[in-house]
Amino acid sequence: MPLSLGVNPNIIEMEYAVRGPIPQRAAELKKQGRRIIPCHIGNPQALGQQPITWVRQVMSLLEQPDRIERERALKKLAGMKPGALAGLGPEALLSDQVLATAEDFLTRLEGGVGAYTESKGPLFIREAVARFIDRRDGVEAGTSRAADPESIFLTDGASVGVRAIVELLITGPGDGVMIPIPQYPLYSATLKRHGGELVGYYPDEDSGWALGRATLEEPLAAARARGVEVKAIVVINPGNPTGAILDEQSGREVVAFAAEHGLVVIADEVYQDNLYDADWISFARLVGDQDVPLVSLHSVSKGVFGECGHRGGYFEVRHAPAAAGTGDSLLPLLLKQASVNLCSNTMGQALTYLMVNLPEPGSPDRERFDRERQRTLDDLLAKATLIREAFGEMAGVRSFGRIGALYLFPRLEQLPAGNDDFAYCMNLLEATGLCTVNGAGFGQREGTRHLRIAFLPPREMLAEVLPAWIDWHNRYVGG
Ligand SMILES: Cc1ncc(COP(=O)(O)O)c(C=O)c1O
Repeated sequence: MPLSLGVNPNIIEMEYAVRGPIPQRAAELKKQGRRIIPCHIGNPQALGQQPITWVRQVMSLLEQPDRIERERALKKLAGMKPGALAGLGPEALLSDQVLATAEDFLTRLEGGVGAYTESKGPLFIREAVARFIDRRDGVEAGTSRAADPESIFLTDGASVGVRAIVELLITGPGDGVMIPIPQYPLYSATLKRHGGELVGYYPDEDSGWALGRATLEEPLAAARARGVEVKAIVVINPGNPTGAILDEQSGREVVAFAAEHGLVVIADEVYQDNLYDADWISFARLVGDQDVPLVSLHSVSKGVFGECGHRGGYFEVRHAPAAAGTGDSLLPLLLKQASVNLCSNTMGQALTYLMVNLPEPGSPDRERFDRERQRTLDDLLAKATLIREAFGEMAGVRSFGRIGALYLFPRLEQLPAGNDDFAYCMNLLEATGLCTVNGAGFGQREGTRHLRIAFLPPREMLAEVLPAWIDWHNRYVGG
C-alpha cells in the first residue's frame, strides 16, 4: 500500500483550463498521429512566430562571451581582406552595436549570466525598465510621476509577479480580489492556491467589454455584505481571454473606484504591444499623481518578442500602501519574497533588458527590429481578421470589442439543445483538430457560451482549417 499523505486542499481544487481536459485530449489525439492545431494557448513561437534577431544575437553572446572577441577578429579580417570569409556576406557578422550591447551588459552584470543577481534584479536593468516606462508614458525623468527603479522587481514572467502579490495580500479565506469575468485562469488559480476569495465583475460584452461604475460597485457591495475584505482589483488590458482593449473612460472608472474604496489596482499589461494600431493607455498614466496603489505587470512572453520559454518580465509598484503592523510599506515585504527565490533567471532578465532597451534609432539593427516587429504585428492582425471573418459565416457566432492581445472570444449563441461550450470545443477538436478552450474555463456571464481561440497558427494552416470549421459548425448547430 503506498504511503497516503494529507495534501493542501487548495492545490487539489485549483483549476487551469488552458492546460485542462481539451488540451489533454488534443495531446492524446496527437500521439495517435492526428494533426492538431494548438490554438488553446498564447505561445507564439510554438506556432512559428520568429524570435527578434537582435535579441537572440545579444543573448547568444551572453551565454558565450568569448565569441565577442572572435566576432571582432572576424570583422577585422573581413575588413582587411574582402572575400576572406568566402560565402559569408557582411550581414553574417554581428554588428558593433550587438557586440557592444552584450559586452556592456556583461560588464554591468558582474559574474556573468551564471551567477545569482540582486533579488529584484540588478539596478541597471531596473533603471532601464524605469526609463522605458517613462518614455512609454511621456513622463520626464526626475518628476513626481517618473518610475522609481527601487519599486521595480524583475520576475520569471508575469505569473511569478501575480503570485507574489496575491500571496502578500491574502491573509486568509475572508480576503478577496476582484477579477474580471471572463478572466485569465492564472488569477482564479492563484487566488485558490492562497485560499483567497474570487470576487468576479463582469465587463459589458455587447459594448466591447467596457466597464461602467455599476459593473464594479455591485459585486464589491455584495462581497462586502458577505463579510469578504476586498483588497484589490485586477484589470487585464488588453484582455485575455477577450482580446479587448479597454477604452480610456473604463480605465478612469477603475481608478476612481479603487480610490474611493481603498483598493490596490493590479494592472496586467503583458499584451501592451499587441494593439494593432488601437490606442492604449497604461494604468501608470491613468493613476498619475492620485494616491491609488498600483502594481503593473509586463512580460517578454507576448508582444513581438513572444519569448514565453525564457521566463522574463517585471512588475512595478506605485503608491505602495502601508503593510499593517510593520511600520513600513509593502515594498520591503515584496523584496523579502523575492529574496527567498534568490533571483529571477538571468537570461529572462537579459531579455527584459533588451525589450526595454532597443537598438539605437536609425541604426541597421533598429531598422531590422522595426521591420521584424511590423511583420509580426501585421501577420497577427491578418490572422485575427481571417478568423473573425469566418465567424461571419458561422450561424450564431458573434465577436465583440477591438482586436487586441492574441485572442478572439466569440459568443456561441446557437448550440444544439443540451450542449454546452465544453461539448462544442471537444467536438470541434475531434472533428477538425482545432484545439480551443471553452468559455466556462475562464468564467462567463450565466447563460452565455463562448470559446477562446489564439490567432497564432500560420495563415496556410488557417486557410485550410477555417472552411472545415465553418462547415462543421453549421452542421453541428443546425442539426
Ligand atoms: C493576461 C496574462 N497575464 C499573465 C500571463 C503570464 O505570462 P508570463 O509568461 O509572463 O508568466 C499570461 C500568459 O498567457 C496572460 O495571458
